[in-house]
Amino acid sequence: MAMLGVFEKEDVMASMSGVPDRSLQLHPTPVEKLDLSGKQLAVIGGTDGLGRAIAKLAASRGAKVLVVGRTFRDEGTPNLEFRRADLSSMEEARRIGSELPASLDALVLTTGIMAAKTREVTAEGLERDLAVSYLSRLALLRELAPRVEAEKRTSPLRVFVMGFPGSGQVGDPSDLNAERKYEAMAQHMNTVAGNEALVLDAAQRYPFFEVFGLNPGLVKTNIRANYLGEGSLLHRASEALIGLLAKSSETYAERVVPLLFAAELQGRSGAMFNAKPRAILPTEGLDVSAIIAASEALLGQRAAAAARRTGTVDEPRRSTASTSENRSAPA
Ligand SMILES: NC(=O)c1ccc[n+]([C@@H]2O[C@H](COP(=O)([O-])OP(=O)(O)OC[C@H]3O[C@@H](n4cnc5c(N)ncnc54)[C@H](OP(=O)(O)O)[C@@H]3O)[C@@H](O)[C@H]2O)c1
Repeated sequence: MAMLGVFEKEDVMASMSGVPDRSLQLHPTPVEKLDLSGKQLAVIGGTDGLGRAIAKLAASRGAKVLVVGRTFRDEGTPNLEFRRADLSSMEEARRIGSELPASLDALVLTTGIMAAKTREVTAEGLERDLAVSYLSRLALLRELAPRVEAEKRTSPLRVFVMGFPGSGQVGDPSDLNAERKYEAMAQHMNTVAGNEALVLDAAQRYPFFEVFGLNPGLVKTNIRANYLGEGSLLHRASEALIGLLAKSSETYAERVVPLLFAAELQGRSGAMFNAKPRAILPTEGLDVSAIIAASEALLGQRAAAAARRTGTVDEPRRSTASTSENRSAPA
């Protein structure tokens, strides 16, 4: 029993901090010495939590930063520009992918929520956590990629995908949208597996991107609101506890902003980083091609549904109302 306890503790620690990848050692410039003048950064989900802290810190070091989200909280901050989008919609994600400057130096994808206790479905028929926290990122990148390729850049655009890589989560590619069975935490792990698969797939697929996974560890933010109930006693108590025990978004940003522009990342597309941030190995057994194929099928179905709604395909219209339900029929 004692041995089992040790293994369980090690498993938990490994899932939080990942298995070290000793082939990649980093010595990034300390944040106070960082001069980001002339750099262009976009932070999708840069209006709150980790993304907001990263955006503000990079802007304070001289980078021009574009933040995308629903609510801008930093009006008047020098070097910070805002574009509104609701990224539960894949149409909106594609729009942002088509509008981002192809000349960006770095892009951080950090939009996220947690799955609700009861399955929520977007107007496009997607489980809401999957849509916001993962599929919107894939849709955005698919739209951005050909424009970046056409740019014939001298150096790749760096893409950082925030999630929980290297934590051993393989998801369920046969039911990513939780149409057969729904349990909130298992569904959130589908987004975790999806984001890790996105990093590994995009690193192979796109030579003009360098793609990296970021696992920030536990940080006090608003991410658990959808799961615990925004402002509920449980939500307030858990965030207060996390605030006492864990680092702040600002501390994480101080560690990660130097990484975004670190020279050691050149040629290391596909690498993942823990909260320190130190390089970690990807999750063993992750079926990248099955996850990407299932994701593209979902995006394809939703694009067809959107075309039907706008009348560009001659098929009967379906309801586009956003619903909350325990089980939903596939759209
Ligand atoms: N915090 C942690 O402990 C932790 C641990 C592991 C991994 N992560 C990962 O880190 C990432 C960022 O999480 P966070 O902790 O920073 O969460 P957060 O404080 O809740 O911030 C989430 C961001 O996503 C945006 N967002 C949410 N729904 C959106 C929508 N429908 N359309 C557009 N933007 C939307 C929010 O913008 P608006 O407010 O403007 O809507 C906000 O900028 C997530 O991928 C999360 O899974 C966090």
